[in-house]
Amino acid sequence: MRHFRVPRIAATQTTDESVYRDRRRLLAAFATSPLLATLPGCAEAEPPPPPKTTISAADAKAGFSTREELTRYEDITTYNNFYEFGTDKGDPSRAAKTLRTSPWTVAVEGECAKPGRVGLEDLLRGLAPQERVYRLRCVEGWSMVIPWLGVPLGEVLRRFEPTSKARYVAFTTLADPKQMPGMRYRSINWPYREGLRIDEAMHPLTLLATGLYGKPLPQQNGAPLRLVVPWKYGFKSIKSIVSIRFVEKMPETAWHDLQPSEYGFFSNVNPDVDHPRWSQKTERRIAGSKSKLFAERIPTRPFNGYAEQVASMYAGMDLRKWY
Ligand code: MTE
Repeated sequence: MRHFRVPRIAATQTTDESVYRDRRRLLAAFATSPLLATLPGCAEAEPPPPPKTTISAADAKAGFSTREELTRYEDITTYNNFYEFGTDKGDPSRAAKTLRTSPWTVAVEGECAKPGRVGLEDLLRGLAPQERVYRLRCVEGWSMVIPWLGVPLGEVLRRFEPTSKARYVAFTTLADPKQMPGMRYRSINWPYREGLRIDEAMHPLTLLATGLYGKPLPQQNGAPLRLVVPWKYGFKSIKSIVSIRFVEKMPETAWHDLQPSEYGFFSNVNPDVDHPRWSQKTERRIAGSKSKLFAERIPTRPFNGYAEQVASMYAGMDLRKWY
């Protein structure tokens, strides 16, 4: 499979990002403000929401934020994996601009008392977007630090009242070949599918992201709605979600379907379990003003550094078997 390519050189820093960083610096002197709505459409009317600048002890303990150097907006939005738009890192930012993200509906089905097909605004109604600064570790061996905006997935899921048979949650990305030129290639058995165990889905770290850097999510990053599961390899963080299904059995996922010996259902970041074709002990951290060519290689941490928050969910499981 063509999942693993030598990275291209970084483009220059954007104004957007310097504004964000500057605001971060300025606001450090002031109290934090609540984040504003970030759904597409409301974004330009209001100035971008001010990001949190101080990390509370509670947020640090919960893993909701980190002081690590952020990845540049430019890098987060031009170095992407979104195979529906091509397999090169630069393809999604070039080809996804035309993806229509409004109106957008999500079908929530399966083992729940209140299934339904709901518009994005209704899905998220009443839930204030929160800023979460998470590490994203791709299975390919690079990582970023991304300031997301989003709502905890669990809060959304609870509204549909999952039944006791809902042991897993399955997610599906939009599959529209007219809008997604990469679907010409059968690099993946479309649509892109992912899944989580119900406790993973309900975990407070699991985010349904609608924005990054205080702005609506760009299409190449999975607009208007994508999953972010920071302790798992990045491919679990499925983009542009159109369906969420509560199911009893472990659902099939796109990468497992393609190459089961290389990609398991759990895919927790684990430096002690190598990918069959390369080591997972270290990662190239794409962050700050350094070009990606000079990205620093740093040790990879179990559960991507979120072990304190999530390891107990896997107590007693052989993580070599359940990779
Ligand atoms: N979701 C869909 N629908 N299609 C994809 O190709 N790639 C995954 C994940 N979600 C992918 C996807 C992979 S491999 C990674 S590392 C992350 O998205 C990358 O997210 P980013 O481009 O926002 O950094």
